[in-house]
Amino acid sequence: MKHDIKKTTLNSQTIESQNPCIETDRLLLRKLKKEDAEPMFKNWASDEEVTKYMTWISHENIEVTKKIIGLWSEEENDPRTIRFMITLKDSGEPIGAIDVVKYIDGNPEIGYCLSRKYWNQGLMTEVCKAFTKYLFAKGFQKIYITAIDENIGSNRVVEKCGFVFTHKERLEHQSSFKHNPVTIHCYELVQ
Ligand SMILES: CC(C)(COP(=O)(O)OP(=O)(O)OC[C@H]1O[C@@H](n2cnc3c(N)ncnc32)[C@H](O)[C@@H]1OP(=O)(O)O)[C@@H](O)C(=O)NCCC(=O)NCCS
Repeated sequence: MKHDIKKTTLNSQTIESQNPCIETDRLLLRKLKKEDAEPMFKNWASDEEVTKYMTWISHENIEVTKKIIGLWSEEENDPRTIRFMITLKDSGEPIGAIDVVKYIDGNPEIGYCLSRKYWNQGLMTEVCKAFTKYLFAKGFQKIYITAIDENIGSNRVVEKCGFVFTHKERLEHQSSFKHNPVTIHCYELVQ
């Protein structure tokens, strides 16, 4: 039997209860697929420059990426999971990902990464603006994000998306970051 998918069109976004996707000028954000492991590994997960300021290390081989895709697929069963693969509208190629990394008092903190080949073309600003709009449309009141102070590109994306800087935090023993200690900039966006 065919599912009756409830669609709500919201400017450039389409929110579907079964299979949500977000469309921007140049990109389509969609749910992950098993086949994404190869482009994810090739395009961003294996690149040390991409993971430089992330809490995870670059993947040594495709098996690591396949395992992550497997874990992410399982997480899709949890209604708190909000994650999209960023794909080029023209070719369908996956070039990055954006997701909710955790919730603070019920509101989402987001994270993102993009293939180095596509940096500095305004793409993550385009993605982040659409994603925050999507989250507000889902009913969240506030959205959080943090960026390491040295990560100029990410701090800039956040500013361009209208986030407000709230405070800095010095993380002395945050072992998940590669460079310890680190200073992170904390931002929030209110609807
Ligand atoms: C951070 C990241 C998502 C930015 O994506 P992007 O598509 O390049 O971002 P945009 O093009 O929308 O904006 C980047 C801005 O930073 C600026 N920028 C980047 N590096 C810069 C540098 N070294 N000095 C000055 N400005 C810089 C760009 O000029 C641009 O600003 P502008 O539009 O005012 O010119 C991308 O670099 C990335 O995936 N990095 C690795 C993962 C990561 O760090 N994720 C964030 C963790 S918090």
